[in-house]
Parts: sequence; C-alpha cells; structure tokens
Amino acid sequence: MVFTVNILASESMGARSMSTFLETDNLSMIIDPGVELAPKRFSLPPHPVEINKKEELRIKIERYLKKSDHLVITHYHYDHYNPLATDLFKEKTVFIKDYGKSINKSQKNRAETLLKNISNINNDEKPSMVIADGKELEIDGTYVCFSDPVFHGVDARLGYVIQVFVSVEEKSFLFTSDVEGPAMDDQVRFILEKSPDILFVDGPMTYLLGMSYSYTTLERSIQNLEKIMSDTKVREIIIDHHFMRDLKSKDKIKRVYDYSKDVGVKILSAAEFMNEENNLLEARRKELYTRDGKKE
Ligand SMILES: [Fe+2]
Ligand SMILES: [Fe+2]
Repeated sequence: MVFTVNILASESMGARSMSTFLETDNLSMIIDPGVELAPKRFSLPPHPVEINKKEELRIKIERYLKKSDHLVITHYHYDHYNPLATDLFKEKTVFIKDYGKSINKSQKNRAETLLKNISNINNDEKPSMVIADGKELEIDGTYVCFSDPVFHGVDARLGYVIQVFVSVEEKSFLFTSDVEGPAMDDQVRFILEKSPDILFVDGPMTYLLGMSYSYTTLERSIQNLEKIMSDTKVREIIIDHHFMRDLKSKDKIKRVYDYSKDVGVKILSAAEFMNEENNLLEARRKELYTRDGKKE
C-alpha cells in the first residue's frame, strides 16, 4: 500500500510555504501549491540567495502540481497558492476554502481573482471546484476530511483556514495550515478527533514573540502540542512554517521537545522529515547580507 508524504517547500527548506504532495494507491494530491518570500525582514528585502531558492521551489511545486489529480487551497495567502498558475489547475479537482463564509476582506478579494482566472479556462478543461470546509469524502479508497474553518492565528483578523486529514487503512496525515500554534481549542479539536500518525503543524510564531505574538499564546500552544502527543496516536510531528522563521525557536518550546522524548514522538522540521539539511534563509537574511563583513 502506498502512502507517501512529500513536503515540497517550507521555511526550513528556504522559503515561506507548507506545500505538500501526497500519494496513495489511487490518489495524488497537492496541498497549498504556493511559495513566497517575506517582502521585508529585519527591514531588508529578500536576498538573491532567497530569490533563487524560491524560484527553485516554485518549479518543484509546479512539477508536482502537474502530476496531482487533486489540489487543496486551505486559504488565500500567496505562500499557499499561485494565482498566476491556474493554467496548471486544468481538469483537476480543486478543493478550496469557502470564499463566502468565514473569510476576511483581503482573502475574499483574492479568492474572487483566483476564480476569475479559473473561469478563463476553456470549458472542456475547467477544473472541478469544490468548497471544502467541513467536507468528508472517500476518493477511490482514500479518506479525505476537511475541518470547519478555524482562525488563522488567534483571531479572525487574518481570516480563517481549513485543516486537511488524509488516511488509508492505518496510515494517516494531518495538515493544519496556518494555525500559528495551535493556541485555540477549535484548532486542536480536529487534530484530537482525527488522531493522525503524522502531523504537519504550523508552529508558534516565535519570531514575533512579545510583539504580535504573545507569551500567553506561546504557552497555550506548548500545552496544546503536549496534549496532542499525550491524547493521540501521533508518531511524528513536523513543526515548521511560522515556527522556522526564527533561529532560536526550538529553545522557546524546549518543554515540547523534552516531552516528545518521554512519550516517544519524533519532532522534526519539514527539511529533517525529508532528510534534508535545515536551510532557514529568512531567519538568516541579515547574515546573508553581511556575509564576509561586506554588503552583497
Ligand atoms: Fe496564511
Ligand atoms: Fe502561510
């Protein structure tokens, strides 16, 4: 039985993304086929090394997008899809976050642009669009379930995301999308209920700790990550995305790593999960500009 989780891009691989390709015996699915760079970090624009990496990852994502029958867009942020790549959506089934409900203004506008681009595709090649929020279905022997919308972070300011759970027999994978923690009960409920083997979680946003990300939110996220380890059958937790924008993030949730050892759960970055070296380019942007003591 085939059940392959292939993480294509993420902060630990050099750019903002959570793009994941999944393959089972009868299904190929790409979740959030997008990659972006922080327009400004440490008051600096993206370094050329980051720009090259993003391009490399974009090409990789498009290669996998082409061979996916199913596509998921968990929310309308450009690190999660490319509105200009809709040509590659042809004849696929596209599961999207509901653009009519539980959405903020900016994401709603972006969703409308995306749908307009898709409407330009010839009728005989048009993708089949499915509003995914809260849906549960079986696709040729693979069980796929989407959560109800949950906050993008701790409130509705940045809108909502949907989480994705995929399983075949005993194997399962859950993708949280941009929960930034998770700190909220609603976000954790789906994870506890589905009890995945492999969890890909958008971890605490430690690079903004004490600024837009509070210590209370960090504490709640730590407790929730421990609860997930104690109350589900999870074996591997991939913590990445917002979490890997900070070189010191691991120290800030040391309790989670200590606890994982006690309960025998592996915690990895996406790069480590894919047996690659960590390559946190955004977190190292300042260093990239000042390498060898000179501005590049
Ligand atoms: Fe987002
Ligand atoms: Fe994101």
